[in-house]
Amino acid sequence: ANRRQRPRRLACWALVAVVLADLLALSDTVAVMSVDLGSESMKATLRYFQHLLGKQADNPHVALYRARFPEHELQFDPQRQTVHFRISPQLQFSPEEVLGMVLNYSRSLAEDFAEQPIKDAVITVPAFFNQAERRAVLQAARMAGLKVLQLINDNTATALSYGVFRRKDINTTAQNIMFYDMGSGSTVCTIVTYQTVKTKEAGMQPQLQIRGVGFDRTLGGLEMELR
Ligand SMILES: *[C@@H]1O[C@H](CO)[C@@H](O)[C@H](O)[C@H]1NC(C)=O
Ligand SMILES: *[C@@H]1O[C@H](CO)[C@@H](O)[C@H](O)[C@H]1NC(C)=O
Repeated sequence: ANRRQRPRRLACWALVAVVLADLLALSDTVAVMSVDLGSESMKATLRYFQHLLGKQADNPHVALYRARFPEHELQFDPQRQTVHFRISPQLQFSPEEVLGMVLNYSRSLAEDFAEQPIKDAVITVPAFFNQAERRAVLQAARMAGLKVLQLINDNTATALSYGVFRRKDINTTAQNIMFYDMGSGSTVCTIVTYQTVKTKEAGMQPQLQIRGVGFDRTLGGLEMELR
């Protein structure tokens, strides 16, 4: 379903400052990993399990998942009113547990790269994730023993990165940029305005404003492949 969100104002440099302040509060030898949580590129035994995060068993996306992936046996969990993957009669995993394992594995990759232990993470989530889905990601991170410094909407992270690297092009004239992101599992389009604005504290500052977000939760490479 396509939906629109109200425009949100966001001082991008302020968000960067918050993240930096969080990082500086840590010891300077501590590495923080960032995880860009897509549906497809981090593959586990179980495909596209993120589509089931934070969903009750009667959610229409659960039925769609069953139809798309009949090879994965989903079992109803009457206690939580959710579903879990049945690997064998003895072995079952909730979608949150699977994500916890994926995050833990990502951590081991990041640790190998940074050559030091990692406990903190910044995780991007799809802009359309609701509170239950966000809680599911936080729960998974907890299971992996990770402290989440920030969950960032992935479209905001992209817009922030675009603004940070094009600071010189941002002036008092409002400039609208459209970001179009078709992934394997979903499609999101975001319209962002960049402009410098006068602030009391620091004079002229660059600012980004998310004007609108349109999305389709199920349109992506996977759907094309299936059709
Ligand atoms: C995370 O992965 C490491 C191996 O990199 C393993 O030793 C540890 O038990 C795992 N932790 C969890 C909570 O799964
Ligand atoms: C602001 O920047 C844009 C693109 O970089 C440029 O086209 C425009 O003329 C600039 N406006 C002002 C007021 O400097």
